[in-house]
Amino acid sequence: MNRTLLAILFIIFPAVSLANEVEVLHWWTSPGENAAVNVLERQLSDKGLKWKDFGVEGGGGSNAMTVLKSRVISGNPPAAAQIRGKGIQEWASLGLLREIDDVARKEQWDAKLPEMVSDTLKFQGHYVAAPVNIHRNNWLWVNPEAFRKAGQKIPETWEDMFRVAPKLKEAGYIPLAYGGEPWQASAIFESVLLAKGGAEFYRQAMVDNDPAALTSKTMIKTFKAMARMRGLFDQNSSRRSWDQATQLVIDGKAAMQLMGDWAKGEFLLQGKQPGIDFLCIPAPGTKDTFVYNIDSFVMFNMPDEQQKRAQQSLASLLMNADFQRAFNQKKGGIPALDLRADQEIDSCAQKSRRDFNRSMEQGTLVPSTTHGMAAGERVQHVVSEVVSQFINDPHADPTKAVKQLSLAIQTLK
Ligand code: GAL
Repeated sequence: MNRTLLAILFIIFPAVSLANEVEVLHWWTSPGENAAVNVLERQLSDKGLKWKDFGVEGGGGSNAMTVLKSRVISGNPPAAAQIRGKGIQEWASLGLLREIDDVARKEQWDAKLPEMVSDTLKFQGHYVAAPVNIHRNNWLWVNPEAFRKAGQKIPETWEDMFRVAPKLKEAGYIPLAYGGEPWQASAIFESVLLAKGGAEFYRQAMVDNDPAALTSKTMIKTFKAMARMRGLFDQNSSRRSWDQATQLVIDGKAAMQLMGDWAKGEFLLQGKQPGIDFLCIPAPGTKDTFVYNIDSFVMFNMPDEQQKRAQQSLASLLMNADFQRAFNQKKGGIPALDLRADQEIDSCAQKSRRDFNRSMEQGTLVPSTTHGMAAGERVQHVVSEVVSQFINDPHADPTKAVKQLSLAIQTLK
């Protein structure tokens, strides 16, 4: 987007909002996510602010980003929007985001957040986003009953996974619940890539976009494993949302789902107990690594002083430890604050926090590509498209897909 054009549009169509109302764009529209949004809405209302909901359907947020762009182009941005990772810098570089250094300084965000978190929230050294959590993407959600009935062990490697899948099918289960949206294909891909290549290789390929890594044998092996993945899904997966896929595991129709820990929100909302009704296991071959995704909100520049104060109150609430705890008990992530404190209520969150801290120490923490943490929106889009086309075409050739992906990423450079 052209910066001058945007500045002109802002002058012609100044944003109109009620002073104590904050309009917030997000894509948290599944039942579990909705319960988390309700926590935010209630706590905002305790501060005398009214939540104006701007939820856009579509897991992973690509629909929300399209809608956001059109609102911004028409000079009418919301007060705040959920934006993650590299997207924060992309939006900030257009000069559209409010700096929230005042709040951050007063509330000592630098001291409260790990540097790898605060770095993602800053543009040219200034805070332009507030985080609410850290999600782990490389989780396998398991229905233990399915494994008991099939008499099988839960897979720890992809080879185990491909071996147990036919047994699960014989016992009447879909081995892996999946919804055919491109970002869901990409989410599986990043876990497989990590299992095949490890954290260092993952960074070379997905963060540095190093051509040698992108065209390597490890990449071909990853696509070969993705081809075998087709045998794990059911026929009806296309156009299924991620939470509909989670529901199959909850209902005992599917044995597993590979998904970030927002899936836990769906289990908990339906009264399911971790460790009993469902299990959270690191994705096959990735137990010593952690693929992270930080949910955060940016505030758009608005001329109105009262709106500015409302945005600052929102930023301050998002970084409040009690809020983050209550919110993430519904949302499924771990708070971005006080990562050493033993504050989570369930065993999956406790494991997530322990694994996060260990991965940070050991250098095996990697940013999610699917959720825009490893690279900007265009690379994120290319990976999702190439991988999902590959999965959808039973005749697709892994070597050609590797070339296609590497070439597509190179042309964006
Ligand atoms: C991610 C987001 C999560 C969750 C998920 C499914 O991009 O970070 O909070 O909402 O999408 O929509």
